[in-house]
Amino acid sequence: MLNLHSTKKLINGVEMPRLGLGVYKMTNPAEAYSAMSHALEAGYIAIDTAALYDNEEQVGQAVRDSKKKREELFITSKVWNTDQGYDQTLRAFETSLKKLDMDYLDLYLTHWPVPELYVDTYRAIERLYDEKLIRATGVSNHEPHHLEKLLATANVQPMVNQIELHPHLIQQKNRDFAKQHNIAITSWSPLGRGRVLEDEAIMKLGEKYGKSAAQVIIRWHLQHDLIVIPKSVKEVRIRQNADVFDFELTAEDMQAIDMLNRDERYGSHPDTFHLKK
Ligand code: A2P
Repeated sequence: MLNLHSTKKLINGVEMPRLGLGVYKMTNPAEAYSAMSHALEAGYIAIDTAALYDNEEQVGQAVRDSKKKREELFITSKVWNTDQGYDQTLRAFETSLKKLDMDYLDLYLTHWPVPELYVDTYRAIERLYDEKLIRATGVSNHEPHHLEKLLATANVQPMVNQIELHPHLIQQKNRDFAKQHNIAITSWSPLGRGRVLEDEAIMKLGEKYGKSAAQVIIRWHLQHDLIVIPKSVKEVRIRQNADVFDFELTAEDMQAIDMLNRDERYGSHPDTFHLKK
């Protein structure tokens, strides 16, 4: 039986929580701090932030104020595009760690595969891993062709790839590749920036299970063995998004949700994203 503390074992044996709070676009410090605190209070043990989100200080503050033991939590951050390259990534990591006021991170990711730089960025992440400053390595928004390049030279393979993934963009190719290489997938914008919530088929399933559309979608991610990081700033939704362990979608309903795929992105494509903020 899954629960809010359930984890997925990464290829190096580290246990990564299956559900965490995503904090993208939470740039209002008070709002961000409040959302993170509510999540920790509700029993979340993972927070996914990034240098770009400009809220690492709030993550650190919320964690300290929660009085939870650091080792019981799983904190992820990412190096932003303008800080990529070997030395720059090492410096960016130091800045993130300082802002978080932590001694280590559980997971550190390349945010986007900046052409010409992402291989060196990942080499720096490998070094952070060797120095035990991070417990797991990974990337975000990498396509199989990016990962192939990293895998060809890496001493420590990427353990996680965090990609946009929701019922309108099921990312089958990327998932198949990840499975083949024992890379865990984290779904960002798991609710499709909220847009999948209005899908009629999802709403109907919500009625069938006595759950909200968001809960149905989060459950779909979990049952596909995806790590899921829904974002909300509202306490009631933060709690609702974690209340997904008392029902199970049938195989038919899982398939019906898979069929909603239309390869539609609500964010950028990794091959054409804009480099700057
Ligand atoms: P808000 O932060 O105001 O609650 P995603 O994680 O796919 O990017 O989706 C995030 C969006 O979905 C946000 O706009 C968030 O709004 C909204 N959202 C998150 N959880 C729920 C929920 N349980 N019900 C309705 N909307 C939600």
